[in-house]
Amino acid sequence: MKTIIIIPTYNEGNNITLLILALQVQFKGMKHDMHILVVDDNSPDGTANDIKRLQLGFNNVHLLMGEKKAGLGVAYTRGMSYAMEHLGAEVVFEMDADFSHKPEDVPRLMAEIDKGADFVIGSRYVPGGSIPKEWGIRRKAISKFGNIVARYLAGIYSVRDCTAGFRAIRTSILRNVAFSDLGVKGYAFQIALLHQVLVLKAKIVEIPVDFLDRSAGKSKLGVKDIIEFILNAWWIRFDSLKTFIKFAIVGASGVVVNLGFFTLFLMQGINKYVASPMAIEISIISNFLLNNFWTFRGRKTKDRVRIRGLKFNVVSFLALGVSYGTFVALSIFFPNVAPQLHQLIGIVPATLLNYFLNSYWTFKEVDED
Ligand code: GDD
Ligand code: MN
Repeated sequence: MKTIIIIPTYNEGNNITLLILALQVQFKGMKHDMHILVVDDNSPDGTANDIKRLQLGFNNVHLLMGEKKAGLGVAYTRGMSYAMEHLGAEVVFEMDADFSHKPEDVPRLMAEIDKGADFVIGSRYVPGGSIPKEWGIRRKAISKFGNIVARYLAGIYSVRDCTAGFRAIRTSILRNVAFSDLGVKGYAFQIALLHQVLVLKAKIVEIPVDFLDRSAGKSKLGVKDIIEFILNAWWIRFDSLKTFIKFAIVGASGVVVNLGFFTLFLMQGINKYVASPMAIEISIISNFLLNNFWTFRGRKTKDRVRIRGLKFNVVSFLALGVSYGTFVALSIFFPNVAPQLHQLIGIVPATLLNYFLNSYWTFKEVDED
């Protein structure tokens, strides 16, 4: 598989040459077509010159230049897009230039991709992983705090190390990420991307790594990054909530549409046993359209849409049957009650069935794709 290790750099002249040489040693023992893409923001220390020198000896070293320091997230967005569009990447890595991530761990992350993972995290916060012992209380607190914000504020509970910057990602997943919608420039990119791939139901695996302190140069994480990070975490939480609220509004609108049309048909003198399924069907269609063009508008659809559409129809048809069956039964047993009430009660079991079948069948299929 063609694999590109993306390394953003800003003033890493003392690290990058040694790191690339160490990576080349690792590549020798790997069966994949391994490349390196350095994304440099015109570092004043001339990091780019080191890369150009290395390019004379290695044809798997690539360089993407920016004009000025634009943030870690911008660098990764550019690097990932370039790797996919111009280098034909099947897998990309995120990796720091400062030896915080061990080159020896690259084959370990890759092995998880080989086993079928979409998104592998070199994690400091799973058993066996570690942060530098020499880290002061402030640096430790920032890292812990970042993960608490990501897990409990943004709602990414399932991942232990949400801010990790050492990851291997299949581009089959990455191609479905709307990078232009991420709206982040700095370190917040790490959780913004993680959130996106979770929405896409990527297979995420965390393996333990030791995160080492940098020996040369200094960290580029600034106050601006921390502020953006927290705002972005709120945004992610709000985003999931928004989808749920839209879902509920669509459901409620379906009830209004159903009962509205039912009443309208009755007023037209249509027999209630004919009016009922017609009204149910109209509400199913309006729910479907609203969910597709409003609730999930921003979401990129996957390949098997047609199969999902087919399943959706089967589920809707069953729901219609249950809803109508309830209506008929109630009409027979309680003939003196307003038919609107029968129609309304019929919505209840149909909604439950709809929910269970759609989440355990229609969407399960998407899971396994
Ligand atoms: N091109 C470019 N532009 N590169 C950048 C920029 C930028 O604006 N900012 C940082 N980098 C590069 C650095 O040169 C380095 O190679 C890498 O990105 C990570 O930057 P560091 O400054 O070393 O980050 P850190 O050690 O504070 O943060 C690490 O841990 C965080 C979690 O605690 C990184 O792995 C982060 O990704 C991670 O979130
Ligand atoms: Mn670092």
